Amino acid sequence: MSALVTIDLDGRAVEAEAGRPLGALLHRELNAVLRHTAKDGAPRGLFCGMGVCFDCLVRVDGREGVRACVTPIRAGMRVETVRS
Ligand code: FES
Repeated sequence: MSALVTIDLDGRAVEAEAGRPLGALLHRELNAVLRHTAKDGAPRGLFCGMGVCFDCLVRVDGREGVRACVTPIRAGMRVETVRS
């Protein structure tokens, strides 16, 4: 079992296992919706789960366009979604 760490997810503290894919945690915490498209507001979330579709983009520690599905969880990371 991996060590439990705390990350900041949209301003709230969330416990997660270090080294696990960030996308899996976001899927669980946000009911699968990570963002909405700019064109028509369609909900998007994990689709391929392996870094190909780019539907899981989030901001991590201020860096835009991070694919959550291929990003390992680490202590103290700050994750921001664009869900509005
Ligand atoms: S879910 Fe497809 S790139 Fe992350």
